[in-house]
Amino acid sequence: MADGPKLRDDQHLLGLEPLTEAAHSEEHGLKGRVSRRSFLSGLGAAGLVASASPLAMAAGVEAPAGAQPESGSSAAASTVLVNGKSYDLSGLEPRVTLLDLLRERIYLTGTKKGCDHGQCGACTVHVNGRRVNSCLTLAVMVAGKEVTTIEGLGQPGNLHPMQAAFVEHDGYQCGYCTSGQIMSAVALLKEPIGPTDEDVKHGMAGNICRCGAYPNIVAAVQQVRGHASNTSVS
Ligand code: FES
Ligand code: FES
Repeated sequence: MADGPKLRDDQHLLGLEPLTEAAHSEEHGLKGRVSRRSFLSGLGAAGLVASASPLAMAAGVEAPAGAQPESGSSAAASTVLVNGKSYDLSGLEPRVTLLDLLRERIYLTGTKKGCDHGQCGACTVHVNGRRVNSCLTLAVMVAGKEVTTIEGLGQPGNLHPMQAAFVEHDGYQCGYCTSGQIMSAVALLKEPIGPTDEDVKHGMAGNICRCGAYPNIVAAVQQVRGHASNTSVS
């Protein structure tokens, strides 16, 4: 544990264990587990019952000792490709969301948890090239598929054009919504929407920005699409 990734306080409270180096290497197995007892005691200590969604609360909980898995409910023995790396989903509790898999098990924290209810778009990632809200997607549903997160889109010094455009147009303020906005904007490039700013606003409607950076976001998206933006402030 000493050499492994460090846990945040809330992860300690939930009893989550980081992937070991061995699990990260080779097959990138997902072995972090939590007992129901430690999970529930953690919830009580943190007073999290009222704030966590049913899906998030269930994520990572092992069945009680001696319990037999229901037919068809045992963890899928399969893999998922995340940003080009294969991860083993064997043994993963079936109710773990894709968002929690990415953030709590693989430590790709660029994807943000906002509402956790499919209403803000902060958790947007690509599954087989199409945008999805990862808080509404079960991890087992992406078995055999390719997932791309903001970390897989571009890197410092080699940004995706949409990332570079967001920087150029100041398309973010606090930045909390930004990875979801960019993932949606990149997917939008392949979707059949019209050329105007209004079309972009409509296509990006599922991504909420509390800071109100919308004009700059639209300008960035329109630049990458090759359309002049009426709302550009740069
Ligand atoms: S966190 Fe998924 S839509 Fe808000
Ligand atoms: S930049 Fe702050 S929420 Fe969008």
